[in-house]
Amino acid sequence: MAETIPDLRGVPRARAYAELKGHADAILEGVDDEITGMATIAALVHHAFGHLWTGFYRVVVPGQLLRVGPYQGSLGCLDIAFGQGVCGAAAAEMKTVIVPDVDKFPGHITCDSRSRSEIVVPVIDARGDLIAVLDVDSERLDAFKPEDQQGLERLVSWFATIKQ
Ligand code: SME
Repeated sequence: MAETIPDLRGVPRARAYAELKGHADAILEGVDDEITGMATIAALVHHAFGHLWTGFYRVVVPGQLLRVGPYQGSLGCLDIAFGQGVCGAAAAEMKTVIVPDVDKFPGHITCDSRSRSEIVVPVIDARGDLIAVLDVDSERLDAFKPEDQQGLERLVSWFATIKQ
């Protein structure tokens, strides 16, 4: 397999995500391993858009604790409690959270001081259970729009298609 990650920084977001979804589906065809999916999707999203940090926090104690999983970028915090920071808020509410300015989000957890904005998307399995969140951080203020939410939610919908 010799897929290369396209540079999609200049491409309109809806088209960029459609292209990435095609790559993810092709690479993950026949795969039913969550970690393989997380590693692949993190690499695709991170390098296609040149983000600061892109990765997954896995649910290790349902309703209580997230722990870092596959990611790209500088060192991530290891454990995040449900309800803590942006990741914990998205996990507790099982809803996507877009933060245009991290300095204005009370309780934001700073893993990398260069981070200015972020989006966190819940990852749901075939049973409808939360298994992780996908966190994407940018050095730019207000980097994430509804198109990013739609595109990222569609990418992580892959996890609901695999057997448990
Ligand atoms: N900023 C996140 C923590 C994770 S890192 O940025 C990689 C948060 O507030 O949940």
